[in-house]
Amino acid sequence: MKFFVDTADVEAIRELNELGMVDGVTTNPSLILKSGRDIIEVTKEICAIVEGPVSAEVVALESEAMIAEGRKLAQIAPNIAIKLPLTWDGLKACKMLSGEGHMVNVTLCFSANQALLAAKAGASFISPFIGRLDDINLDGMELIQDIRTIYDNYGFETEILAASIRTVNHVTEAARIGADVMTAPPEVIAKLAAHPLTDKGLENFLKDWEKTGQKIL
Ligand code: E4P
Repeated sequence: MKFFVDTADVEAIRELNELGMVDGVTTNPSLILKSGRDIIEVTKEICAIVEGPVSAEVVALESEAMIAEGRKLAQIAPNIAIKLPLTWDGLKACKMLSGEGHMVNVTLCFSANQALLAAKAGASFISPFIGRLDDINLDGMELIQDIRTIYDNYGFETEILAASIRTVNHVTEAARIGADVMTAPPEVIAKLAAHPLTDKGLENFLKDWEKTGQKIL
């Protein structure tokens, strides 16, 4: 499973990247706002750090304007994935921009039918939002499973990018189902390493080690 980091925080990306944990990055207008940075400037900086796809989202609502914004964002670096919303205009823009050879990440996907349309329009990635479905008492994982089944039934090559990941269990479940990629905030990725039995075990080992009176260095 590929790990994308869902942030526009350059320092957090750099830190995780040094550990080899970053296969790509996803941003959105809210994350750009949170960073307090200019979209072009911060995205360029991220693209210089990360080799894999870096999603940058358009904000226009009409296909022609989305295409123009997408082309501008794609000029930032060769590893830009243009992020388009799953609307009819977004699908039109997806068809055009993917046809021009750009990577496209179709975002705000909440149904299997939407995912089917994105694949047919040539999306490189489809982003089903797990956490936001869970927020309204629907099952985000069921959606990931449905998309996996449908894409496999027909051999679609669009990668399933499990998004809106809020918990470590979301990561495990998405991996179990076979999502190609997951994108999560740096805090959730850091939590993947945590286990109370690891902490307890380490504490006990260190207590016993102290009793030996030995030193390694
Ligand atoms: C995905 O590309 C989105 O940026 C992100 O995962 C949305 O997550 P949220 O629902 O926690 O805002």
